[in-house]
Amino acid sequence: MGVTHAASAFRGACRSARAAGATVGFVPTMGDLHDGHASLIERARCDDGFVAVSVFVNPLQFDSPKDLAEYPRRLERDTRLAERLGVDVVFAPGEPEMYPRGRPEVTVDPGPLGARLEGAARPGHFQGVLTIVAKLLNLVGPSRAYFGEKDAQQVELVRRMVADLDFPVDVVRCPTVRGPDGLALSSRNARLTEAERAAAPVLFEALSDGATLVRQGERDPNVVKAHMAKLIGGEGLASLDYIAVVDEASWDEPDTLSAPARALVAARFGHTRLIDTLLLPIVGSVQN
Ligand code: PAF
Repeated sequence: MGVTHAASAFRGACRSARAAGATVGFVPTMGDLHDGHASLIERARCDDGFVAVSVFVNPLQFDSPKDLAEYPRRLERDTRLAERLGVDVVFAPGEPEMYPRGRPEVTVDPGPLGARLEGAARPGHFQGVLTIVAKLLNLVGPSRAYFGEKDAQQVELVRRMVADLDFPVDVVRCPTVRGPDGLALSSRNARLTEAERAAAPVLFEALSDGATLVRQGERDPNVVKAHMAKLIGGEGLASLDYIAVVDEASWDEPDTLSAPARALVAARFGHTRLIDTLLLPIVGSVQN
């Protein structure tokens, strides 16, 4: 497995793989790899002849300098794991390699969806995400890029960017990986205290309960959201940030559930903010 810190070498490795006839699978990460990342890499390993992983803690997408400073950086451990998973190249640039002139003046505007939900809670976040993803995809070139469904709004915005700006990339959304108690895997979980960790599965419980209501025929998103909010409100260590139900294609908030829809939730447990999401089982609609 190759490890490079240089953008030109990374671009060259992906280009050479394509020239040799391989398809390129790309998994962008901020490191601190866990089983969720492993599942993306394994999927890429199945689908593509050459697998590239980036490890870069992107300062542009953090709204708090403290959060950025505290983000775990474990490159040696990450590269060992990547090697075990059969990754062909890890790209681990330093900040000057990605942003040689400091904060870029030209960035990617995520559009209106970028200002809602996670974007409202973290102003500038998706502009930072799409800017780095665009830069990375430009280095990788024609490829399939793999993202986890837990960050559903991020995947949707990457899909829209790729479609609107004609990137030669297929965006592949992979299922959320969960612990045995349902908690979605996230690098942030490590920051939870023992009590917060025990409380955090309430997010998946609420989403699952919401899905059950819909399966039983409930079609009013406000009823579903109120039910979920009550459950999360009953957990003393959880402080709810938002619950939303959005149309899976448009991301508008429907008045009635008649087409594929997704529930999204964000809550704080102490200093740690977690998000999770689930497709709602609307009978008669096609879901992927
Ligand atoms: O999901 C993440 O880890 C990051 O937002 C990404 C896509 C690697 C961009 O920095």
